[in-house]
Amino acid sequence: MKISNVYFCAISFLSAVSCISGSNILFLQISATPSHRMTIWPLAEKLADAGHKITYIFPNEKPIGSHPKIEELTPSKMVKLMSDFAPGFDINIRLNDKVDEWHQQVFSSSVQFCEALYDSPEIKKWLDRPGLKYDLVILDILSECGYGLVYKFKAKHVQYLPTSMTPFNFDGIGIVPETSSIPDMSQKFKPSELGFINRVRNTMMMLLWRYSYLYFAGNVLPVIKSKLNLTDIPSLTEFERNTSLVLVNHHFIEDYPRSLPPMVVPLSGLLCNKSYKPNPLPEKISSFIGGSEGFIYISFGNAVAASSMPDSLREEFFGAFRSLPKLKFLWKWTGSIPDNTPANVLLLPWFPQNDILAHPKVKGFVTHAGRPSTQEALCFATPLITIPFFGDQDANANRLESIGAAILLDITNITSTLLKDSIQELIQNPQRKSRMMELSKMFKDRPMDPLENAFYWIEFILRYDTSLLKPLGVDQTWYQRDGWHVLCICIVILVIVVTVLISYNSICS
Ligand SMILES: *[C@@H]1O[C@H](CO)[C@@H](O)[C@H](O)[C@H]1NC(C)=O
Ligand SMILES: *[C@@H]1O[C@H](CO)[C@@H](O)[C@H](O)[C@H]1NC(C)=O
Ligand SMILES: *[C@@H]1O[C@H](CO)[C@@H](O)[C@H](O)[C@H]1NC(C)=O
Ligand SMILES: *[C@@H]1O[C@H](CO)[C@@H](O)[C@H](O)[C@H]1NC(C)=O
Repeated sequence: MKISNVYFCAISFLSAVSCISGSNILFLQISATPSHRMTIWPLAEKLADAGHKITYIFPNEKPIGSHPKIEELTPSKMVKLMSDFAPGFDINIRLNDKVDEWHQQVFSSSVQFCEALYDSPEIKKWLDRPGLKYDLVILDILSECGYGLVYKFKAKHVQYLPTSMTPFNFDGIGIVPETSSIPDMSQKFKPSELGFINRVRNTMMMLLWRYSYLYFAGNVLPVIKSKLNLTDIPSLTEFERNTSLVLVNHHFIEDYPRSLPPMVVPLSGLLCNKSYKPNPLPEKISSFIGGSEGFIYISFGNAVAASSMPDSLREEFFGAFRSLPKLKFLWKWTGSIPDNTPANVLLLPWFPQNDILAHPKVKGFVTHAGRPSTQEALCFATPLITIPFFGDQDANANRLESIGAAILLDITNITSTLLKDSIQELIQNPQRKSRMMELSKMFKDRPMDPLENAFYWIEFILRYDTSLLKPLGVDQTWYQRDGWHVLCICIVILVIVVTVLISYNSICS
């Protein structure tokens, strides 16, 4: 009797363990830049090391990192589409105030990307494999095309947000957007500027985001249906409601503190870990900065092409750099090198960003305020000047400015004097550095390593049904969830009662 009990325990223990550790997990990133990949790749590696079978789909020929146990698929037709995007965001879009149109264009390109995914020979071949089966699909932002695979494999799915919480996702997973206190991602104001008019704008923006998203992402479903030969496909909102977990690349320092349900797990800071040791800088860079008082690093990330700015604007940057001859400037710059580049400026298409920010001589970082750049700056306590361009960058920049982590500049009215003054403020005001050091300590002070935490939650949702993690309002509409309909009915009843009383009074008197 006892022995059989032991056997039973051992067998059930083993089967429980193997059912978790042997899961098939698919990562899918559709219109993703390398920074989307960087911030989640360590999780894929950790899952592979723990014995899960990982397949990773990413639309780029030269991805960052590889792992012997991770199978990578590179859909050639998506690579082609991505390389059309590759020169990066054109700064003139921001200068001409066309960012909203550009966001719409990104939304609407999801149909093209979806066709390219399923039409790529690598994906067709993979889908033809006999017995192909996944337990979990981890979808990047704007990767709704992957719902086809979720449905085909009857898999659970996780939403990964490489940015802050994106407003168009709130409603689908039952999150109340807190528009009365938290500025919308695309708005340029700070929480202190949220007066009544801005609250109205904030609320309207949230609805605009949501309905544009439903329209554009909904267009992907017919594509999935025809490419995968499905007879039917559930609605976009049903897929959203079925999300098991949301991994979001944020931390309360860099994003506004929000009331989020247990199904939302922060993942920020994977690249800020103890195993990272700074490497010596390449000779070309170290000899350039050698002998200087210090240097400023300028990078607008992989997604923004600095060289797309008009010559006159570039001259404002160069003018500021020339006027600070004791400093050196390292600028991530793709494209041809302008003839009049000042002698204290080094333009290169790529810098080892972590090693640069960890360098003892770095005095400041001029950034577009995208993640992971701001996270790396927090990690190494590098004071910031932010110049946001699109997406969540304005919100990030406003948040960082409002907590004393950055000086916020607007690209539309940058002058060499403004830039010079801002750089001098970073260098000469010791409070800038000390505040950044304080925030950096806070950013790294965690109850649990963020990678361990994300890994734990992925295995958790593989083990259990996750409906208990979800907000109860997930099945409601946004106006029910916010209680708007209750308020409206109350006002209508009040108006009726008052009208009746007034007319009764006037009849009787
Ligand atoms: C869908 O059907 C077509 C024609 O019957 C076939 O060529 C194609 O391989 C099918 N696609 C999938 C994903 O099953
Ligand atoms: C959502 O989850 C339920 C329960 O697990 C399942 O029956 C249904 O098919 C899922 N729907 C979608 C769209 O994945
Ligand atoms: C640690 O950080 C480094 C540098 O940012 C990164 O390359 C590496 O993948 C990270 N490792 C883990 C386990 O997160
Ligand atoms: C230009 O900069 C000033 C402060 O330096 C700011 O108040 C103003 O709003 C900016 N203009 C635009 C168009 O952003």
